[in-house]
Amino acid sequence: MDRNIAINLVRVTEAAALGSAKYMGRGDKNIADQGAVDNMRRMFDTMDINGIVVIGEGELDEAPMLYIGEKIGSCRPDSPEVDIAVDPLDGTNCVAKGIENAISVIAMAPRGCLLEAPDTYMYKLAVGPKAKGSIDLNASVKENMLSVAKALNKDITDLTVTMLDRERHNDIIRDCRELGCRIKLFSDGDVAAAIATCFEHTGIDVLIGKGGAPEGVIAAAAIKCLGGEMQGKLTPMSDEELERCKSMGSEIDKVFLLDDLVKGDEAYFAATGVSDGDLLRGVRYLPHNKTMTHSVVMRSKTGTIRFIEAIHNMEKKPVYAK
Ligand code: FBP
Repeated sequence: MDRNIAINLVRVTEAAALGSAKYMGRGDKNIADQGAVDNMRRMFDTMDINGIVVIGEGELDEAPMLYIGEKIGSCRPDSPEVDIAVDPLDGTNCVAKGIENAISVIAMAPRGCLLEAPDTYMYKLAVGPKAKGSIDLNASVKENMLSVAKALNKDITDLTVTMLDRERHNDIIRDCRELGCRIKLFSDGDVAAAIATCFEHTGIDVLIGKGGAPEGVIAAAAIKCLGGEMQGKLTPMSDEELERCKSMGSEIDKVFLLDDLVKGDEAYFAATGVSDGDLLRGVRYLPHNKTMTHSVVMRSKTGTIRFIEAIHNMEKKPVYAK
């Protein structure tokens, strides 16, 4: 695939972030999400790809844009055929409340390479490159933490574990506390948190816990580009979610390895910060109708990771919603 696709993907996440960030703190997560979806969808039209949304805003009857199965891009006869996984705004509540960790995000890979994850929960375990090979979702929480600490050559009391702040994680928190690990809870946005494990300066060593399965596949694309490791297991939490898994033929007790979540070595990933996070700064509003965005874009084939800071003159960008 053309490597310039990576740079064009950033344009799409930048647009989505700009569409959403202006609604920060308004207490309305739907309007923040809609702003991101509208801009992301519009910018996709400028890309020379023959894309199909495999992870998006939902089925056609619940999402008019970026629905699963929607065709994206110019779709010319010679455009590359790709799977697209989008989360125009991961952390809708973060934007609504004006708190950290919201990003706009896209993963892309050749057709058939991204796991078509049902809208259910996934039990996730993710680590950075130095702890690759040390995790096993079939082992206990304590075994995993001890193994990761050993791989990182850290005392267990220096290991920093992050997870969504949810009651369903009480057992994991208890086990980590018994070991003496440091724990960083976050309110929303486990894509950014999973990726943070791959950057030492974030101070995050492990992500563990249940979050959205679609977000799991998106995070896996980034972790593949970054040389880390991630495993996931679908964990439907209601009869409805179980039915959804069955109807999609999804395997429920299987531990999905990184290569099951994202096949091959041609994944692309782009994200732009909406609100501030460990890895990316949120959108800044500058004088004279300018904005500043902070993004990361990666390609698994080459392992190149680019951080891009952009200043946008909003007067000259009619494609971005105002
Ligand atoms: P939204 O942006 O769709 O609200 O998702 C935010 C998020 O925190 C995800 O990052 C995470 O995977 C999921 O929600 C966790 O779900 P729940 O809020 O039900 O625990």
